[in-house]
Amino acid sequence: MDLLGKVAVVTGSAGGIGGAIARAMASAGARVMVSDVQPGDGTVSQIEQAGGEAAFLSCDVSDPTQVQALVDGTVERLGGLDILVNNAGIAGGTGSAHELDLADWNRALAVNLTGPFLCTHFALPHLLASGAGRIVNIASTYGLIGAPEAPAYCASKGGLVNLTRQLAVDYSGQGIRVNAICPGYIDTDMGGHRAALGGTASLEARERREAAAARQPIGRQAQAEEVASVAVFLASDASSFMTGSIVTVDGGCTTTFRHP
Ligand SMILES: NC(=O)c1ccc[n+]([C@@H]2O[C@H](COP(=O)([O-])OP(=O)(O)OC[C@H]3O[C@@H](n4cnc5c(N)ncnc54)[C@H](O)[C@@H]3O)[C@@H](O)[C@H]2O)c1
Repeated sequence: MDLLGKVAVVTGSAGGIGGAIARAMASAGARVMVSDVQPGDGTVSQIEQAGGEAAFLSCDVSDPTQVQALVDGTVERLGGLDILVNNAGIAGGTGSAHELDLADWNRALAVNLTGPFLCTHFALPHLLASGAGRIVNIASTYGLIGAPEAPAYCASKGGLVNLTRQLAVDYSGQGIRVNAICPGYIDTDMGGHRAALGGTASLEARERREAAAARQPIGRQAQAEEVASVAVFLASDASSFMTGSIVTVDGGCTTTFRHP
């Protein structure tokens, strides 16, 4: 689980799962480029206060120019690039296919699927040069199963799952390992949903999620750190024979039907 001397980029790491991954990779010894469309100074301070090294660059992963600048800026400021974590993601609108706005569909695909492709595309020359490049994609259980009223999210995360396998085929022989994590119910404020609700409504939204999570074998939501530790594992030599693996971190929710 040692990432000493490595440089990692974590997209969407201003908070939530990405923030936890950035902190965990820094405490495993990596120098970390925090990146997000929101200010990421909070994550950088947390890493520095814990004795780690980090910097921040703003980047919308759906924009090729910004992604190229993120990769170039990371190499320039941190001296290389060994680990790419494609974490940035959005919920992508709610509604069945006949109701969903085309704009929501397009944005979900742009951020959740084209984003990881672009980051991978621009990072690859540096990952190849590193000799031990690692890509960790944060997909979702909703990339493995269908979920109600979430066609764009499910399709984009399903695409990311199989992009992971495809990249493993092309690059594992060149020293790059590519794996994905499919988180289940993680206790974050995905997309600022609860923060926007505020007060009691926010508390109720969290309780509804906790009640849904209670129906899975490990009957609770996870904390972001429980995903981050798996990301560190997949980026480290501890997972040396893993590539193209789709790792569920879901409390068992994709293993079974809902039992009363
Ligand atoms: N929370 C869960 O239960 C859960 C479950 C499965 C998968 N995931 C996935 O985990 C990842 C992190 O989600 P989270 O729960 O921490 O949510 P979050 O909303 O807290 O974090 C997502 C981060 O991505 C950033 N972001 C959004 N659009 C971006 C863009 N275009 N470019 C760069 N950054 C952008 C946001 O600003 C935010 O900081 C996402 O890919 C999400 O789909 C989350």
